[in-house]
Amino acid sequence: MPPEARTINRNDPERAAVAPALLGWYDRHHRDLPWRTPPDELKRGARPDPYHVWLSEIMLQQTGVETVKPYFLKFIGKWPDVAALAAASIEDVMKAWAGLGYYSRARNLKKCADEVAGRLGGVFPPTEAGLKALPGIGDYTAAAIGAIAFDLRTAVVDGNVERVVARLEAIERPVREAKREIRAIVETMTPAGRPGDFAQAMMDLGATICTPRRPACFLCPLREGCKALASGEPERFPVQAVRAEKPRRVGAAFVAVRPDGAILLRRRPDAGLLGGMTEVPTTDWTARRDGDTSADAAPFAADWRHSGAIDHVFTHFALELQVYRAEIADGTHPAGHWWSPREEIRDEALPTVMKKAIEAAVPGATKRPHPLQARKT
Ligand code: ADE
Repeated sequence: MPPEARTINRNDPERAAVAPALLGWYDRHHRDLPWRTPPDELKRGARPDPYHVWLSEIMLQQTGVETVKPYFLKFIGKWPDVAALAAASIEDVMKAWAGLGYYSRARNLKKCADEVAGRLGGVFPPTEAGLKALPGIGDYTAAAIGAIAFDLRTAVVDGNVERVVARLEAIERPVREAKREIRAIVETMTPAGRPGDFAQAMMDLGATICTPRRPACFLCPLREGCKALASGEPERFPVQAVRAEKPRRVGAAFVAVRPDGAILLRRRPDAGLLGGMTEVPTTDWTARRDGDTSADAAPFAADWRHSGAIDHVFTHFALELQVYRAEIADGTHPAGHWWSPREEIRDEALPTVMKKAIEAAVPGATKRPHPLQARKT
């Protein structure tokens, strides 16, 4: 049977068995994550805080759980509710977000907080449509917040869930081509009771057992009905699409240093990649192999010395930056730039690529000082 002809049987007994088996496993093995309300507390009547659920889901959109944890805790420490976040300045939110990547998320986070705290009187809308109308909330995030915060029976499908379903059903097409089918399957599996726990159980299963490599099938609560396991080659699923290599771009970054250790920074334009974030002066990043990445390309004259090169991979291209350093004895600087004092550099809204460039020129400049070194003598 060609894969396109596969029909979804809504009364499939194997499908019906998924939710109870998975929820039983989740009760025992769920991950303790700082934004979660654990299943035993939910059963005792606790309700998740929609602000926590929303904040975590925005952070988790393109970033892994371990990276998100300290950022989530920092945000709820600084801004314990949506009104507090709305009262913060965008500059402070961007600084707190620095290092998490995909910075349009931070700008939309602030816009969304402003809207919820203002127009909506501090209350997140408890429907998928209402959530989706807010800045930064798309189909996936609305479904996740809806299920987790408001008990809506939504189909929550992220990369982990796609892998779990591709294996359960031994889908012979790459995920990119099977999205509709996978969504329809998740819809049939999602129970009316505990839809938020079900969604998070699927995520946990994908993250801890049904992993991309070497899945721990012997521990899996869904092993009985898993067609990929029955095939003897669970790791072959999801089948891989042929991947095009990312285009490469090149550029140069210029780290100007004052005698007291301050570093010269500027703000990127609001529109476009890393919009509104802070950077050291750089050239444009060109796809041309013969693009000028020499010190001659510097935006202002100084005694630029080559400090090395750094690589950074963005979603749509890979970047190689040549890094130059110059000492600026008199502290003069072009308009629109500022000197960031040595002890404030780590708190600037510097994206990771810029931290790498600064580290290549001034090792340790973007790191927290060691507590012993930080002590005043
Ligand atoms: N990824 C996205 N949302 C998540 C959640 N609620 N728990 C764990 N991983 C996630």
